[in-house]
Amino acid sequence: MKSFIVLVLLGAADLSLQASDWSYDYETQWPGICTTGQQQSPINIMTQDAVLDPHEAHIRGHLQFRGYGDVRVTATNNGHTLKWSGVYGTPAPVLSGGPLRSNYTFVQFHLHWLSEHAIDGMKYPLEIHFVHVKTGLTLEQALARPDGLAVVGVMALVSRGTDNERALAQLMPAVPELMNTTQYETAPKHIDMTRLLSPDVQSYYTYHGSLTTPRCQEVVTWIVMDKPIYISDAQYKMFGKVDVGGNYNYRSLQPVNRVVYRSMAASCSSIIIPSVTGTLISLLSCLSSSLASGINKGINSLLNVKRKFLGDYKQCVKLA
Ligand SMILES: *[C@@H]1O[C@H](CO)[C@@H](O)[C@H](O)[C@H]1NC(C)=O
Ligand SMILES: *[C@@H]1O[C@H](CO)[C@@H](O)[C@H](O)[C@H]1NC(C)=O
Ligand SMILES: [Zn+2]
Repeated sequence: MKSFIVLVLLGAADLSLQASDWSYDYETQWPGICTTGQQQSPINIMTQDAVLDPHEAHIRGHLQFRGYGDVRVTATNNGHTLKWSGVYGTPAPVLSGGPLRSNYTFVQFHLHWLSEHAIDGMKYPLEIHFVHVKTGLTLEQALARPDGLAVVGVMALVSRGTDNERALAQLMPAVPELMNTTQYETAPKHIDMTRLLSPDVQSYYTYHGSLTTPRCQEVVTWIVMDKPIYISDAQYKMFGKVDVGGNYNYRSLQPVNRVVYRSMAASCSSIIIPSVTGTLISLLSCLSSSLASGINKGINSLLNVKRKFLGDYKQCVKLA
């Protein structure tokens, strides 16, 4: 019963300030810890610097996703992102294991385009964030504790493959209804959230960081999956048309300042490769059409990608 109550409180409260109070165009004006904090997110995850944890001091056992297969959600456009929230009165999925020391109750997932995290300097077209609150805590309590939230990040690559519409197929019908920022909430719908998860959920990077929107509380155990899901070009273009107060909705990369762990399954060799040219082309075409003002950030990340491929990549250590 407790988890249902948690969902009610969270459904009402947004994790951020009022939509009108901040903008991605003026990050330097974000309040308080957003600009002074030392454990901010997102970051560029350098795979060579990520610490393996063979004695399981930090990452203990497998991550466990319970109840992800059937979740009742409603979707909204909150002015910064499209967000799918768990519906009150239905069983809430629970995340545990890996770096987590307790159960974390699923609250909502939302999308960022481009990705917020970068891996070896590489940004992905899209990143999904699954937000969980430490089971038994209210959102207010969780936001006041360093271990209050757990957020799973899943990257998405744009691909020309034949099965590339499957991952997001359940979400897309709601998108046309959510083009504008309003109080509008779609009718509740059951979805299978496992389709949105990385194909290898045991392959990830984890570190302690913050919410990536004001007020940027440093209360998040981040779990960033390194194996992406695939989406289609048409799906991606649709997000470019959604009004999120600007042409993109990702925060700039923040100083790393801290240890990033990697799970045994994660290795730098696994990250890159899949049809990189296709990805870059998709990124470029999308940027030039609908993401005009995000283009500088986008180009920088493309340059980083290039640097990565010409430089460090070959030194990447392959795990046995
Ligand atoms: C998490 O929830 C499960 C199922 O309710 C329970 O068996 C387990 O003891 C909980 N784990 C922790 C660390 O509280
Ligand atoms: C909302 O979306 C419709 C198209 O669906 C558009 O015509 C209208 O101008 C939008 N309103 C606002 C306030 O952006
Ligand atoms: Zn997010």
